[in-house]
Amino acid sequence: MMDYKSEYKGKKILVTGGAGAIGSNLVRALSEAGAEKIIILDDFSSAEKWNIPSLPNVLVSEGDILDEIKLKRVFFEKPDYVFHLAAFFANQNSIDHPERDLQVNGMGILKLLEYSALTKVKRFVYASSGCSIYGSHAPMPLKEDFMSMHLSTPYQITKMLGELYCNFFQHQYEVPVVKTRFFNSYGPGEIPGQYRNVIPNFIYWAMSGKPLPITGTGEETRDFTFVGDIVDGLMRSGVMKEAIGEEFNLASGREIQIKQLAEMINKMVGNNAGISFAPKRKWDTKSRILASVEKANKLIGYKPNTTFEQGLPKAIEWFKQNWDNIQKAASFGPGASSAVRTIC
Ligand SMILES: NC(=O)c1ccc[n+]([C@@H]2O[C@H](COP(=O)([O-])OP(=O)(O)OC[C@H]3O[C@@H](n4cnc5c(N)ncnc54)[C@H](O)[C@@H]3O)[C@@H](O)[C@H]2O)c1
Repeated sequence: MMDYKSEYKGKKILVTGGAGAIGSNLVRALSEAGAEKIIILDDFSSAEKWNIPSLPNVLVSEGDILDEIKLKRVFFEKPDYVFHLAAFFANQNSIDHPERDLQVNGMGILKLLEYSALTKVKRFVYASSGCSIYGSHAPMPLKEDFMSMHLSTPYQITKMLGELYCNFFQHQYEVPVVKTRFFNSYGPGEIPGQYRNVIPNFIYWAMSGKPLPITGTGEETRDFTFVGDIVDGLMRSGVMKEAIGEEFNLASGREIQIKQLAEMINKMVGNNAGISFAPKRKWDTKSRILASVEKANKLIGYKPNTTFEQGLPKAIEWFKQNWDNIQKAASFGPGASSAVRTIC
């Protein structure tokens, strides 16, 4: 198998959403791989400046992916590779703000693909989402050849739309696209908040001495993937020719129950406030999520390397190191005690 990391040496790379939870980890890894320049395009709508690695080969362009002037500016740098991670995140947010979701996730990817076609990038890697493709009744483990037209949130619809645009740009303009489908990323770099994932929010509530709110029975499962494994899958996808035109899951291939997750976090943090239960949200229709990683393994040698037992302490450690900043940044909006959270 090729030495994929060394392919980034001396290259220019655009990472949209590079200040975010996954993007900030990807930027660090690309920098370590010896990229000449990594350009982050991010409007900081769900990110914090202190979370960006301050490295000499990282350039930050603050702005909206819908802003033509910003796009011209970053594509003027002639990036070799584009990782498109910027998104209006995620399910509950899209239910509350469906038009903005369509603008950012729909029009946003269209613009990025247009500029990528025009400047003939070597690769366009799209951050798709497992929960946006397979619907609620697919056989487990979820495999890439199954799809559903019955999606339950605008976010799921627009993330799928992104894959469809990728396919169109590959067929029509020969843009070498890759569609990577993530499953519940977690780990250092994800700041909690009203619209964030369950793990950072549970750690936040546990460190605040509050009960961990489960919307549902707690028997639901998710396939939690350590962010470092997702980053490794992205780096492989950016340069391996076997990935071109393909779509595949980047997951851990293991199910964890939400109740078990809550108990683990309370124990690790030393929180005695326990767990509370609230009714399931209407859109939250998936009782189990377990992905197959067979295709990614076969095509690009992807293998999840960090077990849940190894990854969770790393996320908690990051919280402890950044607790002051996290407390200032975490926003839960009105009605915080009901702790809206996203598990899909
Ligand atoms: N985190 C997950 O579990 C998960 C699962 C499936 C798919 N994904 C996808 O992976 C990508 C990264 O996810 P993440 O968890 O790092 O989310 P994130 O919210 O931390 O990162 C997204 C980044 O995009 C930026 N952004 C949002 N709107 C923008 C705009 N209009 N212009 C410029 N920047 C904008 C945000 O400020 C943020 O830094 C997203 O595309 C998301 O849909 C994530």
